[in-house]
Amino acid sequence: MSGNTEKDRNDQFDPGTYPVDQSLELELPEPILESSTSIEQALAERQSVRSYSGRSLALSDVSQLLWAAQGITRDSFFRTAPSAGALYPLEVYLVVGNVDGVVAGVYRYVSSRHSMLRVLDGDRRDELCRVSLSQPQIRDAAAVVVIAADYSRTTVKYGIRGIRYAHVEVGFAAENVYLQGVSLGIGTCAVGAFDDGEVASILDLPVNEEPLLIMPIGYV
Ligand SMILES: Cc1cc2nc3c(=O)[nH]c(=O)nc-3n(C[C@H](O)[C@H](O)[C@H](O)COP(=O)(O)O)c2cc1C
Repeated sequence: MSGNTEKDRNDQFDPGTYPVDQSLELELPEPILESSTSIEQALAERQSVRSYSGRSLALSDVSQLLWAAQGITRDSFFRTAPSAGALYPLEVYLVVGNVDGVVAGVYRYVSSRHSMLRVLDGDRRDELCRVSLSQPQIRDAAAVVVIAADYSRTTVKYGIRGIRYAHVEVGFAAENVYLQGVSLGIGTCAVGAFDDGEVASILDLPVNEEPLLIMPIGYV
């Protein structure tokens, strides 16, 4: 499904400027802005969870987590996580194994449309686990969030310092996923120990994107 050239690989990921094969795009349920979990409770209960119930994830919960990571909040542009110069270098992927009604594959979250675009078919959890020091939480999760960065979006304005900004930003996005997870009964664990090249290859990331963090997700 991916293109052969660098241009193809980038174009297929830019639904804002390039026609998208509608059959590969999955519109997500609207995020819900109310909860019985207070922000204080979520902070107090946040912890890294490495074992999950094995239940499949509801699409509404997946939608909520992706929105928490990089969803649009105001002016059809700004996002849940701050970004230096509002340049948004992060891209969020979801490696789907066991999500209700969703074909296994690798999906790219499209913030501007609150949708997921399938970029690869097939369940990639085992492969991802293998290249992450075989940490079992990746294999056992219902789905796995992978956050990547395109440094050029921030370095074009900030020079080399833009790399630091992208690294800071992945922390904001990841914490949002942790906290949103608490309110949904979904556990996650930041995983930084993986082979960058292998992860990029498994997800068929565009050449300008670096994987920064892996977050397996599943009901506690
Ligand atoms: C950048 C980063 C990388 C991490 N990498 C891993 C990892 O590869 N495997 C893992 O099990 N936990 C990983 N963790 C989770 C930490 O082990 C965990 O946050 C720490 O033990 C504190 O526990 P808590 O998150 O439950 O408060 C990572 C955390 C961060 C912030």
